[in-house]
Amino acid sequence: RQVYVNGRYLPEGEATVSVFDRGFLFADAVYEVTAVLDGKLVDFAGHLARLRRSLKELGMALELSDEELLAIHRELVRLNGIDEGLIYLQITRGNAGDRDFLFPDPATPKTVVLFTQKKKLLDSPLAARGQRIVTVEDLRWRRCDIKTVQLLYPSMIKELAKKQGADDAWMVRDGLVTEGSSNNAYIVTAEGAIVTRDLSSDILHGITRKAVLDCAADLEMTVEERPFTVEEAKAAKEAFSTSASGFVNPVVEIDGATIGSGKPGPVAARLRQIYLEKSR
Ligand code: PDD
Repeated sequence: RQVYVNGRYLPEGEATVSVFDRGFLFADAVYEVTAVLDGKLVDFAGHLARLRRSLKELGMALELSDEELLAIHRELVRLNGIDEGLIYLQITRGNAGDRDFLFPDPATPKTVVLFTQKKKLLDSPLAARGQRIVTVEDLRWRRCDIKTVQLLYPSMIKELAKKQGADDAWMVRDGLVTEGSSNNAYIVTAEGAIVTRDLSSDILHGITRKAVLDCAADLEMTVEERPFTVEEAKAAKEAFSTSASGFVNPVVEIDGATIGSGKPGPVAARLRQIYLEKSR
């Protein structure tokens, strides 16, 4: 597999990043994950816009233009013959040559890394079976709207979910669901309204979230952007999550309570289908 590091395409075994890189030492880095379907990038404009926002919020100036970033993504997808899978981009504040909490000179070149992952996204067993969810307290920092690589807590709760025989964890702050470990969270009420937490610094502003809510609007479904409790989720007719890597994934169980019929629900199935049709 070829990877991209700072202007070069290299075999993965030959790619290196400094031990003094701030991404490694301080998690001082942002990232994006974009799905690839039929060899094409899904919702790339959205990912690019969010990347720019994350960089701006952290005061990181990137030397590369949007056109250059697009060209690198396309070239790596081509080099690795990715028909279906993911492409990962990470940008760190670079290598300051030493360990120092203070930011280095803004002129220090950023570290830019990209790699691809071949993955079956369309034919997903999770989408067919539905996810079992456990809820945990949201112990992340208060800038969850910035897509940084500080992913230790999401890793810990995903691990915890697995140990409990579940597929994923949803996080809860002040009794209200924020989002999933690496996805946005939704329920469908008895009246058929789709409910998902409103945008704030409490959640990542999902690119798939926006696209799927647009699909829901096209289908004239009611959407309520507001927080919901775990109790409301457990009593919901349906629940699901969205992300670039999972598209729309139904939820069939939350903390042991069966959601709806216990099978993936029609709203999630319809949104998954429409979103995929639009994306290809
Ligand atoms: N995760 N919320 C969190 C905390 C996430 O990490 C993600 C994405 C999302 C969904 O955002 P989007 O629809 O733009 O993918 C929501 C990626 C896929 C990951 O970390 O692998």
